[in-house]
Amino acid sequence: MSSILVTGALGQIGSELVPALRASFGNDRVIATDLRVVPSSAAAAEAPYDHLDCTEPQQLHEAVRRYDIGAIYHLAALLSASAEAAPQLAWCVNMGGLYNVLEVARAYGCKVFFPSSIGAFGPSTPKDATPQDTIQRPTTIYGVTKVAGEMLCDYYASRFKVDTRGLRLPGLVSYVAAPGGGTTDYAAEMFVHAVRYGRYTCFLKAGTRLDMMYMPDALAAMIQVMEADARRLRYRNAYNVTAMSVTPAEIAEAIRQHIPDFVIDYEVDPVRQAIADSWPRSLDDSAARDDWGWAPKYDLEAMTKDMLTRLQERLAAARSR
Ligand SMILES: NC(=O)c1ccc[n+]([C@@H]2O[C@H](COP(=O)([O-])OP(=O)(O)OC[C@H]3O[C@@H](n4cnc5c(N)ncnc54)[C@H](O)[C@@H]3O)[C@@H](O)[C@H]2O)c1
Repeated sequence: MSSILVTGALGQIGSELVPALRASFGNDRVIATDLRVVPSSAAAAEAPYDHLDCTEPQQLHEAVRRYDIGAIYHLAALLSASAEAAPQLAWCVNMGGLYNVLEVARAYGCKVFFPSSIGAFGPSTPKDATPQDTIQRPTTIYGVTKVAGEMLCDYYASRFKVDTRGLRLPGLVSYVAAPGGGTTDYAAEMFVHAVRYGRYTCFLKAGTRLDMMYMPDALAAMIQVMEADARRLRYRNAYNVTAMSVTPAEIAEAIRQHIPDFVIDYEVDPVRQAIADSWPRSLDDSAARDDWGWAPKYDLEAMTKDMLTRLQERLAAARSR
């Protein structure tokens, strides 16, 4: 049986995707890799871990051969705010890395998962119930790499029969690893600050409405689309998926149901606000529901309850050490 390679495995998603994949497919069959040399997360500590720079094709070829890889979850990328601070590097990592992954997949017959984003849309995209097929003219380098990445996946699927599968993920909320420089990082940060300090200063305006998803739903979606019957997949670029469409003020209100004294104030970062303003308010994910049975389990209320419980447990455990 072939193994699964995860690139960028020490990031926000990889730190939880690796344990989830290991739980389904076995520890030794999931190879966590990242640019960072020293494994610093629980995900890497327990699974086979290797250093891998996805901009170096030779390293990818060697890893695929050495570990007999049959599927690649390609997570390595610069996120929206980090990419805007270093656009040239973002192109090199996001596009160069994906191209190398698709080439190695073509050579060895691997299946590929590509995480696109709501950042693949832009100001001219319909903002509400954003359709699966619509205008994609993003104004960020992150978005440019995500649209181009979606099209490259489509091309490799039709031209070379590479089994590519992708999701347009919304902002992800999680408590295991800190978010890595995205525009929706405020949501996860708000929960952490609420539990630790009882207050949070948000870098987006109170009414900024964006799609969000709790990490357990995102992990389920990634594994589900990779395991779906290939004949049912109409889209090989990326499927819209969402779980909720919320504003910072609404998340703060949901937190106040559990921590009544929680205080939120706003110090708007113009760069991240401009990025958020260029993105949709809510996606139509009916194609994912129809084609491979996508159905999120967590709404805002359920996510808030679980996030606060988990963070309070972690804080109590840290204090008792
Ligand atoms: N987190 C979200 O809210 C979100 C939403 C939509 C899409 N995505 C996409 O999901 C993927 C993973 O996101 P994340 O939140 O885990 O990001 P992250 O920033 O937390 O992690 C990315 C990881 O990639 C690694 N990396 C960077 N350059 C590399 C290289 N050259 N070679 C190998 N590894 C390298 C970093 O060390 C880091 O551990 C990205 O493609 C991102 O665009 C994330």
